[in-house]
Amino acid sequence: MVYILNALTIKCLNKGKSIMVRDNNTYFPSSKWLENAHVNSIDKYNEIYEESIKDPDQFWTSVADRIDWYKRWDKVSDVDYNKAKISWYLNGKLNVSYNCIDRHVESGNGDKTAIIWEGNDPSEDKKYTYSELLIRVKKFANVLKSLGVKKGDRVCLYMQMIPELSIAMLACCRIGAVHSVVFGAFSADSLRDRINDSSCKILITQDTGVRGVKNNIPMKENADKALINTPSIDSVVVVKRTGVNIEMVDGRDVWWHEETINASEDCEPVEMDSEDPLFILYTSGSTGKPKGVLHTSGGYLVYASYTHEIIFDYKKNDVYWCTADIGWITGHSYIVYGPMSNGATTIMFEGVPNYPDFGRFWDVVDKHNVNQFYTAPTALRALMKEGNTWVESRNLSSLRILGTVGEPIKEPEWKWYNKIIGKENCPIVDTWWQTETGGILISPLPAATPTKPGSATLPFFGINPVLLSDEGEEIEGNNRQGLLALNTSWPGQMRTIYGDHKRFFDTYFSQFSGYYFTGDGAKRDKDGYYWITGRVDDVLNISGHRIGTAEVEGAIGKANGVAEAAVVGFPHDIKGQGIYAFVTLMTGIDSSEIILKSIISSVAKEIGPHAKPDKVQFAPALPKTRSGKIMRRILRKIAEKDVNSMGDISTLADPSVVESLIKGSIQV
Ligand code: PRX
Repeated sequence: MVYILNALTIKCLNKGKSIMVRDNNTYFPSSKWLENAHVNSIDKYNEIYEESIKDPDQFWTSVADRIDWYKRWDKVSDVDYNKAKISWYLNGKLNVSYNCIDRHVESGNGDKTAIIWEGNDPSEDKKYTYSELLIRVKKFANVLKSLGVKKGDRVCLYMQMIPELSIAMLACCRIGAVHSVVFGAFSADSLRDRINDSSCKILITQDTGVRGVKNNIPMKENADKALINTPSIDSVVVVKRTGVNIEMVDGRDVWWHEETINASEDCEPVEMDSEDPLFILYTSGSTGKPKGVLHTSGGYLVYASYTHEIIFDYKKNDVYWCTADIGWITGHSYIVYGPMSNGATTIMFEGVPNYPDFGRFWDVVDKHNVNQFYTAPTALRALMKEGNTWVESRNLSSLRILGTVGEPIKEPEWKWYNKIIGKENCPIVDTWWQTETGGILISPLPAATPTKPGSATLPFFGINPVLLSDEGEEIEGNNRQGLLALNTSWPGQMRTIYGDHKRFFDTYFSQFSGYYFTGDGAKRDKDGYYWITGRVDDVLNISGHRIGTAEVEGAIGKANGVAEAAVVGFPHDIKGQGIYAFVTLMTGIDSSEIILKSIISSVAKEIGPHAKPDKVQFAPALPKTRSGKIMRRILRKIAEKDVNSMGDISTLADPSVVESLIKGSIQV
C-alpha cells in the first residue's frame, strides 16, 4: 500500500535544515519497500545526503568504486564555475563499453539478458545476452576501425529505436570514438547541421523506419539529402531494418550486415581518460543554433550508473523499462549507460504507446514482467484520456517502481499513474534533470521519500540546488520561488558545448557568478520540496521534447511571404505545451491556406515534424518595444487566453498592436 500521510511528521534534512512533512496530499512509500531497498528510509536519505554535502570528495570517491578503472584517479574533482572548468576523477582510466558489457560477462553473467528489444509490431521482439552483445559490439567496433574511425573521431547515429543503435554507441566507446545521436524524427536539414557542427566522419543510419502506423520513415533518404552538404562524412553504414529498396552510393555506403558478418570478434577496449569525450548530444537553447552538449567518460558513467541503481532501486534480477527514445538524453543515460553499467536487463521499445492500441505499454509490461517503468507525463496524459479498460485487461503485478521525466507532471495524471497503473502499490519517482546534467538531480527515492503529486521532491546525494532572485541573490528558507541553480558540481555534469566553450560559459555560468543556471524556475514549498515551474528562457517543452522558440521562428521565417515570426508556448492538454506562432507577412501578401501550408512544411523541413506549430495567428504587426525587441510576455498572455493580466504595455512602440492581436483569429 501507499499510505497517504496524514499529520505524520517526518524529520528530513535538506540543506542542513529540518523539514516537516504533514500534508494530507503526501504519499508515503509502501512499507514493503522499506526493508530491502537500497535507501530504505528518509533517515537514511538524510544521513547519506548530509555526508555527501559535507565531504563531497569522500562521497564521490566511494561512489566511483562501482566502476572498473584501469587506473584510479589522482584527484576527485577540479571545478571552477567562474571559468566553466569542470573535471572529475582526474587522470582516471577506464573504458565505458568494458564497464557496460565485458565485466558482466567476466563475472559470470554472460547469459543474462542485456537488451530486450520490443519491435513496433507486437509480434517482433529479440533478446541479446551480455555475451551476444559483446560479440556484436566487438564486431561493429572493428567495422568502424576498418572505415578509418579513430579515437576522438565523431560518429553520427541517425536511427530509430533498433538494437543496432545501442550496439553502435557501445562500439564507439569501445574504440574511443565520440558518438552524436540525432533523434530519428529530425529532418535532413537538422541532421546536416549537426553533422557539420561536430565534423562527423561516419554516419550510421537505416533503410527506413517503422513507428506506429508509419511503416516507411525515409531515414536513408533523409540522410542522403543531408549528405549533399556534409564534407566531413567519408562513409555511411546502413542497417537493413525494413528491407525496402533504397539507393546506395558506390564508394560511400555500406550495409551493416555485410560489413559485420566477417568482422573479427576480437577488439580490446581502448583505455580512455576519465575526461575523454564520450558523446555529444544536441539540444535546443534560446538561440537558433542547437548546442552540442559534451559529456565525458568517467564522471558521466559513475553518475548514470549510481542514479539508475538508487533512484529506480534497481536489483539484480529486475527487468527495467525506460520508454524514452535514445535520441534524447533520457535514452542515453537510462536505457543504455546507466542500466548496462549495472548489468541490468533493459528494454528498448521501437513503437509508440497507441499502436496497435492504447494498451501497448501495458502489454509490454505484462509480457516481459517489467519491474521499473519510466516514462513521460505526456504519454500518461494521452493514455489516461482513453480510459482504464486498456489497462485493466493487462496484468501489471510485476511493477514495483514508476518514474516520470521531461516535464512537470500534474496532479490528475500523477494520481492516475499511482492508482490505475501502480495500483497504489508502486512509488512514483518524478525525476528532474536535463541533457546538461547527464543524470537525475532532483527526485524522490522510492522507499525513502514521501511524495507529493507534481513535486520532484528533494535533491539527490551530492546535489546542492538553490533558488536565486533575478538579481542573483540566494533565496533562503522555504515557501519561496525563484530561478533554479546549482552551486556545486557533480560528476555527470556536461563539460562544454562542442567547439564553443565561450558559449558554454555564457549560457550557464555568466548570468549568476559561481552558479550553474538551469534555465528553469522552481519553488521550494513549506517542507523544502522542489516544484519545477518550467523554463524561464525561450525554450519550449513539447511532449517532453526541448525546442527553442528561435529555431522555430527561423524555420517559419524561411517560408515564402513571411516577414517575421514570434513563437511562444501555450498550455496543451496532451503535449504539456503547444507551439503558438504569431506571423507577420510581407507587405502586399495576404494570409492564405498556401502560406499556412508553406509555414508548416518549412518547420518540418528545417527541424522535423515534432516542431510543427499547433496554432498560427497571422498578425499585422508584433508587439515591440521602442528598441525593437518583441515582447513575448504579451504574446504568451494572448496565447494562454489570459489577456486580463497583460501587465504594463506602455513601453510598447505601438500599444494598439495588442488590441489587434487579441481580436485576431487563429489559423490552425
Ligand atoms: O524544464 C525542465 C524539463 O525539461 C528540461 C530539460 O530538457 P531536456 O534537456 O530535453 O531533458 C529532458 C529529460 C531529462 C528541464 O530544464 N524537465 C525535465 N524533467 C522534469 C522537467 N520539468 C519538470 N519536472 C521534471 N521532472
